[in-house]
Amino acid sequence: MTQATITPDGRQAGPVLMDLRNITLRFGGVTAIKDISFDIREGEIRAIIGPNGAGKSSMLNVISGFYVPQEGEIWFKGYRRGPMKPYEVARLGIARTFQNIALFDGMSVLDNIMTGRLNLMKARIWSQALWWGGAEREEIENREQVEKIIDFLEIQNIRKTPVGRLPYGLKKRVELARALAAEPRILLLDEPMAGMNVEEKEDMCRFILDVNDEFGTTIALIEHDMGVVMDLSDRVVVMDYGRKIGDGTPDEVRSNPEVISAYLGVEHA
Ligand SMILES: Nc1ncnc2c1ncn2[C@@H]1O[C@H](COP(=O)(O)OP(=O)(O)OP(=O)(O)O)[C@@H](O)[C@H]1O
Ligand SMILES: [Mg+2]
Repeated sequence: MTQATITPDGRQAGPVLMDLRNITLRFGGVTAIKDISFDIREGEIRAIIGPNGAGKSSMLNVISGFYVPQEGEIWFKGYRRGPMKPYEVARLGIARTFQNIALFDGMSVLDNIMTGRLNLMKARIWSQALWWGGAEREEIENREQVEKIIDFLEIQNIRKTPVGRLPYGLKKRVELARALAAEPRILLLDEPMAGMNVEEKEDMCRFILDVNDEFGTTIALIEHDMGVVMDLSDRVVVMDYGRKIGDGTPDEVRSNPEVISAYLGVEHA
């Protein structure tokens, strides 16, 4: 474990929370991730960038435990992590949003956010079973926590609305709310601002920074908009064809010649 350090924008970043060592992930003949190592520090916002097909979502899926790499080690909170079931992921404090929105369209905003607590509840089920009255208390705690998140993300006025009726930007915000409902220690966001207009992006940026500030949540995110990446992140990993071609502060990666020629030199959607 390393000591806390000051990030370039003056914020504190803590010790290493997650350490990915020599990760290789293959799908049949396709090597999506080739021998990549990097770490994520407690309390930081860590961006993963790179061209389409670079392996960014695959990497997030490795971090979340959804994919188990063929090679390499994942260390979390100082322990080596093996394959996990979804409730074990939740118990470790890992929550995520998806590149393509994965909400229940017919269900209300409130009910969608409540589903974010299911794995957390499953993780706690044993302690509950041993204690009379635990279930009721848990239900009250769930409601309180969800209402807190609804207030925090300013979605009180749509809490009863079926998600299918919401505009895209708000759906993304509900997805963030559901991830937060699991009270994550680390939050993984796969292109949280893709397809948004400028105003929606500004809102989402503010919420991500607020989550990081207010709850101290560590965040790893994939984003194509370089302006957003520069504004939000403490450190950036750059991927290209499954390899890591850059790693450092936003300013460092922006002036890295390999990163410029592989990614920054060309326009991206
Ligand atoms: N489940 C899968 N099965 C087979 N191949 C996959 C799978 N997931 C990803 N791949 C392949 O792995 C490579 C990396 O894909 P990945 O989705 O991780 O890239 P990405 O950087 O997230 O791209 P994008 O910016 O388009 O979202 C691609 O060649 C992709 O086709
Ligand atoms: Mg992707």
